[in-house]
Amino acid sequence: MCGIFAYLNYLTPKSRLEVLDLLVTGLKRLEYRGYDSTGVAIDSPDSKNIVMVKRTGKVKVLEDAIKEHFSGGEYSEPVMTHIGIAHTRWATHGVPCERNSHPHRSDEGNGFVVVHNGIITNYNDVKTFLAKRGYEFESDTDTEVFAKLVHHLWKTHPTYSFRELVEQAILQVEGAFAIAVKSKHFPGECVASRRSSPLLVAIKTKSRLATDHIPILYGKDTDSGKPQVLPRSDSTSEFMPEEKEVEYFFASDASAVIEHTNRVIYLEDDDVAAVRDGTLSIHRLKKSLDDPHAREITTLKMEIQQIMKGNYDYFMQKEIFEQPDSVVNTMRGRVRFDGNAIVLGGIKDYIPEIKRCRRLMLIGCGTSYHSAVATRQLLEELTELPVIVELASDFLDRNTPIFRDDVCFFISQSGETADTLMALRYCKQRGALIVGITNTVGSSICRESHCGVHINAGPEIGVASTKAYTSQFISLVMFALVMSEDRLSLQQRRLEILQALSNLADQIRKVLKLDSKVQELAKDLYQHKSLLIMGRGYNFATCLEGALKVKELTYMHSEGIMAGELKHGPLALVDDSMPVLMIVLRDPVYVKCMNALQQVTSRKGCPVIICEEGDEETKAFSSRHLEIPRTVDCLQGILTVIPMQLLSYHIAVLRGCDVDCPRNLAKSVTVE
Ligand code: UD1
Ligand code: GLU
Ligand code: MG
Repeated sequence: MCGIFAYLNYLTPKSRLEVLDLLVTGLKRLEYRGYDSTGVAIDSPDSKNIVMVKRTGKVKVLEDAIKEHFSGGEYSEPVMTHIGIAHTRWATHGVPCERNSHPHRSDEGNGFVVVHNGIITNYNDVKTFLAKRGYEFESDTDTEVFAKLVHHLWKTHPTYSFRELVEQAILQVEGAFAIAVKSKHFPGECVASRRSSPLLVAIKTKSRLATDHIPILYGKDTDSGKPQVLPRSDSTSEFMPEEKEVEYFFASDASAVIEHTNRVIYLEDDDVAAVRDGTLSIHRLKKSLDDPHAREITTLKMEIQQIMKGNYDYFMQKEIFEQPDSVVNTMRGRVRFDGNAIVLGGIKDYIPEIKRCRRLMLIGCGTSYHSAVATRQLLEELTELPVIVELASDFLDRNTPIFRDDVCFFISQSGETADTLMALRYCKQRGALIVGITNTVGSSICRESHCGVHINAGPEIGVASTKAYTSQFISLVMFALVMSEDRLSLQQRRLEILQALSNLADQIRKVLKLDSKVQELAKDLYQHKSLLIMGRGYNFATCLEGALKVKELTYMHSEGIMAGELKHGPLALVDDSMPVLMIVLRDPVYVKCMNALQQVTSRKGCPVIICEEGDEETKAFSSRHLEIPRTVDCLQGILTVIPMQLLSYHIAVLRGCDVDCPRNLAKSVTVE
């Protein structure tokens, strides 16, 4: 949700127009996260003031406004050092409008301007404090108090450095935030910080960086500007690149910077990163025992084409069609098909501890939750442990009892999902072992978990999750296989699953060939009001996930129905006009599914059937069917969900919906 992008060029000449171009492109890369308004701030041509442009709506609207606003030649003069900040806002306090858009300013003179993601929970107290001191507020946001608080501190502590001012302000605010601040009083400097909201710094230099770490400076400053360095054995200098010319980027996620550099530092909570004279320092007020001496500079493995649409019309479509590759990437280096061995490097040291636990809990929201539903049965079978599947929000509402010998899995594509993260902290506090299943290296869930599995599906830009689902699914299947490695009685079953995993990519390719058939089906369905999706056993999760895809992408009502529950209510919905889709595969619940199918057809329902290739007996029940290749029961859910992804995609296109950014939704749900 929402995004920050800031760019600082030091001794690398860039015109303001070029800077604006960079800022707008950065915001475009963050668009998928969801937002409702945008804004930028740069220096005025005489560098004595800060100019801002803000707009409600898409980044494109901002881009057009910028073209209009900054046409003069003075904006094409190169400047050696400059800092620009930009924002996509997801309104939490105050309606989306220009006045509430970021950056927010400290005063009429634009002394300090701030972009912020998240919520400052005590903003009312801070506002009252500042109002008493004469500050007048121009927006309804919580963010504005931060800009004014920095200004107030600057007035009262004239000797403080920019970094100290922001640091003092952060001490006063509560809640979750990522912020970047720019100031007229501190030209060429930028300060950024985070707490429970993602933020990274990316570094671009001409030659290779000579270091992999940036030392952290701790403690209070003795005099302004120079942090006091606590005694340590190793080097204590700040990070200064070998050559003087350097560019820094501050961004909410890596997709915004990958086209410029692959060298990034993920900031931790309460890190204050400041750039001054081209030098980056990371500062923390207090040092605790287990704090590291340095932050690592990570090399991103993301490829630029991964964040481009290529030949596809939408990211979601591209991501659906990427699945033959993304499932292989999830297994890469982990599954050895020749020796039938599976190694999950991220949790192997914890397996003995996990085997001793008394139950497994799988916690997530939305699609991630469905991946837990999809794999629960196999986990129960192969671990012989009770497996509890929970929606993070409900789990927290209930103050669910958690014990030290519980193992809790937290599943999230972004690794930043607020509800899931809160549930993680709740369980961690109670002493449970915390395992993350995430797609985002360096994310909060990844960092706060004891161990975990990166699903390695590659960046997912479409708001509706597709390839992350199939990769989460496979990660959990691999975990089940690891847990049953030394169970003699389960070896046959494991072999069968491993065999099926090795065929999966080809089978997914085959399912994707149904695309044009699914498109025809979508033409039949898109004008209807509702769509019921029925199934049971290993395919119940596909019903839930399919219905969620239809809802979020097409705004049509859809429900995933457990076929075993038909008689207990949902059958009343069935008549000759209600669209129904049923999953009927040759697995242990086949007979029961056939029962449900007959109940539907005898109410004059005319269901679309998803069945196995060449299953004439089942196909005879309806004129409309989609045939998928046969695989082992516990992996069917991967093949059956793909027609559902395609169907929701095509219905959305036919209904004229914004496929990649459905209304009211965001990719990374960082607020509760
Ligand atoms: C790691 C490397 C991979 C390399 C492979 C070679 C990373 C990110 N991965 O993969 O590039 O090819 O070794 O052996 O460097 N973790 C969590 N929580 C999570 C997810 C992961 O704590 O939610 C931790 C894991 O416990 C582990 C680390 O992050 O310590 C990396 O996890 P993962 O990428 O899954 O490990 P490998 O598959 O071994
Ligand atoms: N709470 C702030 C606002 O409503 C920031 C929201 C965001 O994260 O974009 O303006
Ligand atoms: Mg971790």
